[in-house]
Amino acid sequence: MGKVKVNLLKKVDNSYEIIIGKGLLSQVVKYIADSNYGRVAIITDTNVKKLYGKKFLSMLKDKKVLAELFSFNAGEASKTREVKEKLEDALTRSRFKRDSVVIALGGGVVGDLAGFVASTYMRGIPFIQVPTTLLAMVDSSIGGKTGVDTRYGKNLIGTFYQPKIVFIDVEVLKSLDRKEMLNGVVEMVKHGIISDKKYFLFMRDNIDRIYNLEEKILIEAIKRSCQIKKSVVERDEKESNVRKMLNLGHTIGHAIEKASEYKLSHGISVGMGLVVETKIAERLKMIHPVESRKIIDLIKKLGIKMNLSGINVRDVVKNTFYDKKHTARKTNYVLPVEVGKVVIDVPVKEKIVFEVLQAA
Ligand code: GLY
Repeated sequence: MGKVKVNLLKKVDNSYEIIIGKGLLSQVVKYIADSNYGRVAIITDTNVKKLYGKKFLSMLKDKKVLAELFSFNAGEASKTREVKEKLEDALTRSRFKRDSVVIALGGGVVGDLAGFVASTYMRGIPFIQVPTTLLAMVDSSIGGKTGVDTRYGKNLIGTFYQPKIVFIDVEVLKSLDRKEMLNGVVEMVKHGIISDKKYFLFMRDNIDRIYNLEEKILIEAIKRSCQIKKSVVERDEKESNVRKMLNLGHTIGHAIEKASEYKLSHGISVGMGLVVETKIAERLKMIHPVESRKIIDLIKKLGIKMNLSGINVRDVVKNTFYDKKHTARKTNYVLPVEVGKVVIDVPVKEKIVFEVLQAA
């Protein structure tokens, strides 16, 4: 018998900066022009291509950067292995090599898909996040989760792969409608519930200013959300423990979204998920009704009504089984115990989930 040890003890520094401001696209162009990437692949969707993609491409070309734009049909339906394969083949045909960089220009679907492409293309090339939705700014562009959906659920295939830098330009939020803004606002409220009561109250008191894109408040809110998310990710990058808290509202939220065949938006579904999971916590006597009221009232203030008409509650319960937090024998929940504090890994019986959903 012979024995050979492959020594791969690693010390890696995957740290990166999140730059938040107004009118940053030209700063991104300067950052790329000053770096020594061989080729730049802007990956975006058909909507963002029209709004910012073409302009961004020509700004890069003006600086003599070798850039090309790749787009796919806008929408969650594109977040698949098939679209990933098409993008990879397009990059290969255009002879993108290991010295290339991917720029994910768009919302969460673009970021997840482009990040996943970057993480496996030629065994991994760097990527930069330029989120164009509020949801992507405060959530998916930070923390390195990449991936695609399958017929069994969302984000079931993917990688942890951190971007080199994130540029958040609040100017692009001008093109977002209220429904899109709500997707991000719900995640920001979630950040308050999981770890920062003051921020929860800040969000409660400033909702209208955020919707009105009041620059100072908006940048402050995005920064505070990024700080909460980054401190969770720093403690647990690969979601072995505390990062699970970011899934508050999502076990039920994703299950509702899927049961509605994605007719309900992510924001509305997660908002309802926050309400249902808070009620589950109340039912288990883990949260005082006064605290639970504060959460439910703020979700209501956002304009989200608890309404599951047309949705089969049994389908919602069944969908929770495909949640990544579902171990072989039970579904684990993240539940609030007060505003600013949650507990993770709470096994909840199917019967309780069903009853709370039915009464919701
Ligand atoms: N969106 C949850 C996370 O990034 O962990």
